[in-house]
Amino acid sequence: MGTPLNNPARIIQLWKQMSLSENQETQLKPVNIGLLGFGTVGQGVAHILVRNAKEIERRAGRGIVVKQASVRSRGADTAASLGIETTDDLAAMVADPDIDIICEMMGGDTPALELILSAIKNGKHVITANKALIAVHGNTIFDAAREYGVIVAFEPAVAGGIPIIKAVREGLAGNRILWLAGIINGTGNFILSEMASKGREFADVLAEAQALGYAEADPEFDVEGIDAAHKLTILASIAFGIPLQFDKVCIEGISNIERDDVAYAQELGYRIKHLGIARHRSDGIELRVHPTLIPEARLLANVDGVMNAVLVQADAVGPTLYYGPGAGAEPTGSSAVADVIDVVRALTTDPEQRVPHLAFQYDALSDLPVLSSDAFESAYYLRLQAEDKPGVMAEVMGIFGTLGISIEAILQKEPADVNAAELNDGVSVPVILLTRLVREGLIQQAIEQISNLQTIDKHIVMLRMETLD
Ligand code: HSE
Repeated sequence: MGTPLNNPARIIQLWKQMSLSENQETQLKPVNIGLLGFGTVGQGVAHILVRNAKEIERRAGRGIVVKQASVRSRGADTAASLGIETTDDLAAMVADPDIDIICEMMGGDTPALELILSAIKNGKHVITANKALIAVHGNTIFDAAREYGVIVAFEPAVAGGIPIIKAVREGLAGNRILWLAGIINGTGNFILSEMASKGREFADVLAEAQALGYAEADPEFDVEGIDAAHKLTILASIAFGIPLQFDKVCIEGISNIERDDVAYAQELGYRIKHLGIARHRSDGIELRVHPTLIPEARLLANVDGVMNAVLVQADAVGPTLYYGPGAGAEPTGSSAVADVIDVVRALTTDPEQRVPHLAFQYDALSDLPVLSSDAFESAYYLRLQAEDKPGVMAEVMGIFGTLGISIEAILQKEPADVNAAELNDGVSVPVILLTRLVREGLIQQAIEQISNLQTIDKHIVMLRMETLD
């Protein structure tokens, strides 16, 4: 029998004993959470952690308790009913040595960024639902997290309760991801769905989304596409292994969608959905958020209300679709708690062995450029108001022909109101044109030339169309 150091069996036995005693110790001590923000999502996280404590402990291998929550005017009663201590000293929470994980559910830049960086410097792992912060400051946050050896997890930041980050980052890790397209703003989808199916007014539906806790503090983020662009930025990074580049996303919201276009699209067999699209091309990345016509037979076309869905096209698996509630207290809380469990399981792992924050190794991120909108490739829906007389369409077609743009379909409608639609002493009619796939720069040239024709109204509607096949 040799000494322990030259006897492999003895080394293994000692190692097992050490691991066992470490495990026993960690089983005794629950992991403490500090909840920064106790609004809709913060309360959702707390309810889940308390209600499902046993099930969560069975999964994580340790108890998880909310030690403290930062509470403003509302939420104090809920915190008390869940047995959670409250505080308004946020700086003290992120410095508290008894707190292991900070869940940032407050939103906004200030003071969230400073608090997250401070938590990281204090060696705490962080879960955040703050998509704006990750999309805009994520590169800085992840650099700090690497330096201090902690995890920053952000599943609740994208598509609410859908585990899309985990699916793309880990589930599809063997694939080359070609493109993804998603309905990733529940409020916008809720508004478009209610307007299309019930003819409700925009402002009325938005007020309901706010009352239900779906909308951002500034609802312009929802209706102007900024929230969706934050989420797309994050998805594109983990799908393609590129740095976060929110400032390069082409963003259009839903506030300019006209009822006529919703109706004409339906007549042509399409639905208008607000999509975030990220496409990997050999010459660069397309990052765009805009209303999009999609064939009504596509599953995405039938995702209504506050539900979100993300379609991912990857080389090995083909298309996969992820569907679920994109906002709300417990759906978003569900994603946050899953992140908490992941962090707890990884507490004793070497930081270098953990899943990289942006799915790809830090020194392997790609510098493929993000393309400007004139380089996008898409099909287009154009609506013109044209004088109803011979030769007008020939002029329009001449412009398309010269630019080499192929037309897929033309639909001329009756004048909506003969008296009001008079243009240059003639009656004007709506004309809808669908193009084949073309570079957006050419469409912009065509629109400019068409709008200079005497017989065409200057207001031309342009919407992108995607077949998603
Ligand atoms: N305002 C967001 C939405 C909340 O409506 O989707 C979830 O990120």
